[in-house]
Amino acid sequence: MHIKIIRFLYKNILKRILFLFDPEFVHDRTTTFGRILGSNRLTRSLTAKLFKFTDPVLIQNIHGIRFENPVGLTAGFDKDANLVDILDCIGFGYMQVGSVTLHPYEGNPGKRLLRLKKSKSILVNYGLKNIGVDKVIERLSKRKSTFPISISIAKTNSAITCQLDEGIADYIGSYKKCLEAGVGDFHTFNISCPNSHGGWDYNNPGDGENFADPDRLSKLLDAINEIAPPDEDRKPVFLKLQINRSWDDTRELLEVAKAHGVEGVIIGNLNKDRSDPDLLDTIPDGQKGGFSGYPNKKLANNLISKTFETYADDFVIVGVGGIFNADDAYEKIRLGASLLQLATGLIYEGPQVVHEINRGLARRIKADGFRHLSDAVGADVKRR
Ligand SMILES: Cc1cc2nc3c(=O)[nH]c(=O)nc-3n(C[C@H](O)[C@H](O)[C@H](O)COP(=O)(O)O)c2cc1C
Repeated sequence: MHIKIIRFLYKNILKRILFLFDPEFVHDRTTTFGRILGSNRLTRSLTAKLFKFTDPVLIQNIHGIRFENPVGLTAGFDKDANLVDILDCIGFGYMQVGSVTLHPYEGNPGKRLLRLKKSKSILVNYGLKNIGVDKVIERLSKRKSTFPISISIAKTNSAITCQLDEGIADYIGSYKKCLEAGVGDFHTFNISCPNSHGGWDYNNPGDGENFADPDRLSKLLDAINEIAPPDEDRKPVFLKLQINRSWDDTRELLEVAKAHGVEGVIIGNLNKDRSDPDLLDTIPDGQKGGFSGYPNKKLANNLISKTFETYADDFVIVGVGGIFNADDAYEKIRLGASLLQLATGLIYEGPQVVHEINRGLARRIKADGFRHLSDAVGADVKRR
């Protein structure tokens, strides 16, 4: 009942007020507020009482990591690790911090966030704004929460890291620091940022994406495997992929990932296709950026189901893009995702959406006669 009240208050009052202000201003204030809530034992426990939903059918053990539920916060919402002590209380099963880079970056010039309300989407042009891996590691080392966290590692947004060796050195520099500090339950490599060094142009793959090329990816993964701890100590490695690539292009990358023992793929990043029929808003001329939310759903779902069809035994699939409710979440699970992530749904629906999704998932899984979430994974897809 109280979840319905929170939904009503968010949708009818709080969201209306928040949407009057600049989105980046609201984003920054929200993360500061979350940080304060997470810093105190009492506010943590009160938040958990209000928001948490648990059900054994949702608990998974994936590569030795226990996920209380499949719903994670996606990369980009908490770039600087402000929310690590409150998101578990809101009911998230895990989170991605970042994307984080070896060197701090103040963000791209100009407008960096825009609400695309008709499309239920956010235009994003942060360009990997973050405080840098050292400070993020410092914050994570002090965290009180115990739910799984993965740092999303990208390469520093600069012309230098667009070159092969420098790019690899940048990724590996961050990875090494994470390994040395022992932070992160699994490691994510973001090879799909559309907003760094010219990557916003749909027709031109950006430099932030230039490891989404089979040969370059292979070299990056060689370098990762070279310093990754041996088998029993290895923490799983996940790759975050684009959604605008064809299946053939994506499959080439997946083959490379499989050959290098990558454990998981996150599908996927922001949409760059401004002619996408689900993009209903007009984006101002000259405004750079990729967009999130509802227009990402079909593209992501298509790649999720194809990946499951061919690589169900090779990768854990994380489904991201346009999850606003339990139906959206369950659809991705039935198409092959074992884990989910969202950000835009949180902004448009409110913080109680995590509870609503988890409750709705548990209900749907049982109603369909499955004993556990894992039995529903890929139920709508034929496996090869
Ligand atoms: C404000 C914002 C910032 C983002 N920054 C990143 C980022 O730094 N790294 C990344 O891998 N994805 C980033 N993304 C993409 C999201 O992680 C996600 O892939 C995408 O938004 C689709 O999910 P959604 O529809 O639930 O928002 C960002 C998205 C948003 C909305």
